[in-house]
Amino acid sequence: MKTIVKTEHVSKTFLLGKTQVQALTDISIKAFEGEFLAIAGPSGSGKTTLLNLIGCIDKPTKGIIKIDDEIVTGFSSNKLADIRLAKLAFIFQTFNLIPVLSACENVEYPLLKTVKNKTERFDRVFYALQSVGLEKFVKHRPDELSGGQRQRVAIARALVTEPRIILADEPTANLDQKTGEDVLNIMKSINKDSNTLFIFSTHDPKVMQMASRIIRITDGRVVEPTHPGRLKNEFSHKH
Ligand SMILES: Nc1ncnc2c1ncn2[C@@H]1O[C@H](COP(=O)(O)OP(=O)(O)OP(=O)(O)O)[C@@H](O)[C@H]1O
Ligand SMILES: [Mg+2]
Repeated sequence: MKTIVKTEHVSKTFLLGKTQVQALTDISIKAFEGEFLAIAGPSGSGKTTLLNLIGCIDKPTKGIIKIDDEIVTGFSSNKLADIRLAKLAFIFQTFNLIPVLSACENVEYPLLKTVKNKTERFDRVFYALQSVGLEKFVKHRPDELSGGQRQRVAIARALVTEPRIILADEPTANLDQKTGEDVLNIMKSINKDSNTLFIFSTHDPKVMQMASRIIRITDGRVVEPTHPGRLKNEFSHKH
């Protein structure tokens, strides 16, 4: 399997007034091509911080991050922006759509700089909206859409640039159970069809179940998986 993302001994400290907040400590993980990878952990465990570092939105205090074997740590803000544009897309918990733009315009937005041909842009936007089942809602503005539909627009917007990696920070947290499952199923089918690496954070066990692999973090550290044999022994010991 091809490694797309690698973090090596990554730590992140935030300065909050005069106190230092240690958000992540010594995180060394890999994410492979085609994975549907969950970053799971309780509130405050560092999930968003980790996704922001992988997504080149923020820089680590220590350690290095590699994307496609390229060390991105130490890159200038401009160069990080280029990496984001070329390789990454984001899906947020609160959808982050532009309220005054229609679904179609929201999805078109990330293509405005890179795809100059209007017809090609339109084709790609329509295809992306179709793949999330929203071809009948192209003219609707976010406030004319349900939460699930808004998140599907956000998924289409992420897809349209054909990124290597789609990062989703608790993409179902603002949706009811059923809608959340629908949205996740759409993400999963895109993942299967396009082999795009998805990395998403969650603290919902139902969402974790859909992952091809789970990395658990607590207090900013990776929790090593318990060896299956040990788990069995512990279980039989207690009962
Ligand atoms: N910009 C910041 N300044 C100071 N502290 C921060 C900042 N961002 C995050 N933190 C702290 O870092 C830790 C990890 O936060 P993070 O948002 O990554 O957690 P999370 O796992 O995403 O939580 P949640 O499930 O609630 O979204 C927390 O203790 C948080 O208070
Ligand atoms: Mg978070």
